[in-house]
Amino acid sequence: AAGEQSGGGRVLLAAPRGYCAGVDRAVIAVEKALEHYGEPVYVRKEIVHNKHVVATLSSRGAVFVDETDEVPEGATVIFSAHGVSPAVHEAAAQRQLKTIDATCPLVTKVHKEAVRFAKDDYDILLVGHDGHEEVEGTAGEAPRHVQLVDGPESVDSVTVRDPEKVVWLSQTTLSVDETMQTVERLRERFPTLQDPPSDDICYATQNRQVAVKKIAPSCDLLLVVGSANSSNSVRLVEVGLQHGAAAAYRVDHAGEADEAWLDGVRTVGVTSGASVPEILVRGLLTWLAERGFGDVEEVRTASEDLLFSLPRELRADLKTSS
Ligand code: F3S
Repeated sequence: AAGEQSGGGRVLLAAPRGYCAGVDRAVIAVEKALEHYGEPVYVRKEIVHNKHVVATLSSRGAVFVDETDEVPEGATVIFSAHGVSPAVHEAAAQRQLKTIDATCPLVTKVHKEAVRFAKDDYDILLVGHDGHEEVEGTAGEAPRHVQLVDGPESVDSVTVRDPEKVVWLSQTTLSVDETMQTVERLRERFPTLQDPPSDDICYATQNRQVAVKKIAPSCDLLLVVGSANSSNSVRLVEVGLQHGAAAAYRVDHAGEADEAWLDGVRTVGVTSGASVPEILVRGLLTWLAERGFGDVEEVRTASEDLLFSLPRELRADLKTSS
């Protein structure tokens, strides 16, 4: 109704949101590498799936490449938080690259599970999104044993050698609910399907989804800050819509938000993906405040204090120089 936009609009700010421990570590690794080795420092793929982060690091001298064959022999290359397959490590070794592996430890954990189940000759059903870098890295640990299952619809086309010896693993940044639907369908086909030894969907992905579910029913509009290729950010939009947000959009930054979205809206939910710096959320809150949505209430469903130490190779170099 008229007037609501110019005053009284409320914002529910989800918490936890934004940076997870794996992203924080990967970004700091590039920053420290630039400080320590000087530019250029090469990074294979986007260090984390966020445009702003990649642009900022590029401006400081990081050079983002798609593959290690674009890195000059002998140079330093950082592997992104999403992880790489053993083939990528080999290719880098052949070019005598110095590598710093910024793979999130929670992704490495899934890699190790894949290796272990492949060793025991299981068929591994990897639930994840086709073409995502993380899935390529994990599958690359055991290409002959891993099959990708991209959502409940692809369950029917799965074929295994021994239905009694099947395990499912997953990408770390999926929707928890959709993954469980996929797993239920898999279990109908393979009743003795084994679960991963521990949750593969990481704490940060889960916590951000729980927070969005909490605010979604009260939101006429949900705005998720995150880049289009950020899996966990895109999931937050879906989860918000499934749990009662009347409308939901993903924006990379405030500049992408559309005033028309605010028509008739009283409550706006705001959250951000695990690769999103808080400064982008602050920018969106300012944009909202300028349009009458200055009353911000943070709704927190969990506290996070996880911290990962920097990649081993980098720590060693930083230590010898100090
Ligand atoms: Fe790691 Fe999860 Fe972040 S897997 S990089 S903690 S989204």
